[in-house]
Amino acid sequence: MISNDRKRARRGEILKELGLTPVWRVRELTEDKRTEDESVSSVLESTETVVPIVAHPEFEEQAEQACMRSDDVTKDVTEKRRATILQMDWDQLKESVEGCVACRLCSSRTRTVFGVGDPDADWLYVGEGPGAQEDALGEPFVGQAGKLLDNMLAAIGLKRGRNVFIANIVKCRPPGNREPSDDEAQCCEPYLARQIELIKPRLIIALGKTAARNLLDTDASIGSLRGRIHQHKGIPVIVTYHPAYLLRTLVAKAKTWEDLCFAQSTMLTLKAPE
Ligand code: URA
Repeated sequence: MISNDRKRARRGEILKELGLTPVWRVRELTEDKRTEDESVSSVLESTETVVPIVAHPEFEEQAEQACMRSDDVTKDVTEKRRATILQMDWDQLKESVEGCVACRLCSSRTRTVFGVGDPDADWLYVGEGPGAQEDALGEPFVGQAGKLLDNMLAAIGLKRGRNVFIANIVKCRPPGNREPSDDEAQCCEPYLARQIELIKPRLIIALGKTAARNLLDTDASIGSLRGRIHQHKGIPVIVTYHPAYLLRTLVAKAKTWEDLCFAQSTMLTLKAPE
C-alpha cells in the first residue's frame, strides 16, 4: 500500500516529467497577515506565501493516471526481481545478497548476513535480523542471543552448522536494532524464499514475533502460536520465543524448553522431503 505522502511526491515528480510544473496557487492569507497595499504579484513572489499545487483538474487526472502506471511499473520490477532470485543457485544467491541495494537497510549496513550452516540441513532456524555484532562479522546470532541459541541447539543434540541452517527475515541490520519494517521484510523475502527452496528443511523453527509474522502471515502472539505445527509453503513450522527475549524474560525459558522438546519429537515424525 503506497502512502499519501509518497503518492504526492511521486505525483510531483511525474508532473515535472510532463513539464506541468511549477503550478502555483496563492495560499489563503489570513486577514492579519495581509497588508493594506499587498498586491497579488507581491504575494506570488514571496516563497513564504505560495505553495506549488496541481491547479487544473485535467492535470490532476493526468498525474493520477501516470501515478497508477508507475505503480504498475514498480510492481512489475518487484515481480521480475523476485522471479530472478527464485532461479538462483546457492552461490548466485549469496552474491546477490552481498550486493543487494533493494531497500534502505543497505545504506547503514557494514556487512550483509546471508545465514550460516549446512545448506542441506533438516533444521532451519529463522530469526529477525542481524544485530551490531552480526553486522560487523557477517554471521547470524554471534552475540549474546547467539550464545543462547547455541545452547538451545545443544539442548536437543544439535550444533550450529551440523544439519542446521540459521537465517534471518532480513539480511541487513536495521539501525538501532529496531524491528525490520514490513517493506524491508518484503524486499528481503525472495532471498529467504529461495534459501528455503534450496535447503528444503524438514522443519522450520521461527524464533520470535518477526519470524512468525513473516513466515506465517499472522500477527498472533508467540504465546498463542507455540505448541502447534504451522505450515509455511507446505513445510512444518514450530514457533518459539526469540533468544534475545529469553535473555530478558527468564520465565519464558521453561516454555522454550517445552517448544524444543516438541520440535525434537516432531522431527522424528517427519519424512525427508522428496
Ligand atoms: N537476532 C536475530 O534475530 N538475528 C541475529 O542474527 C542476531 C540477533
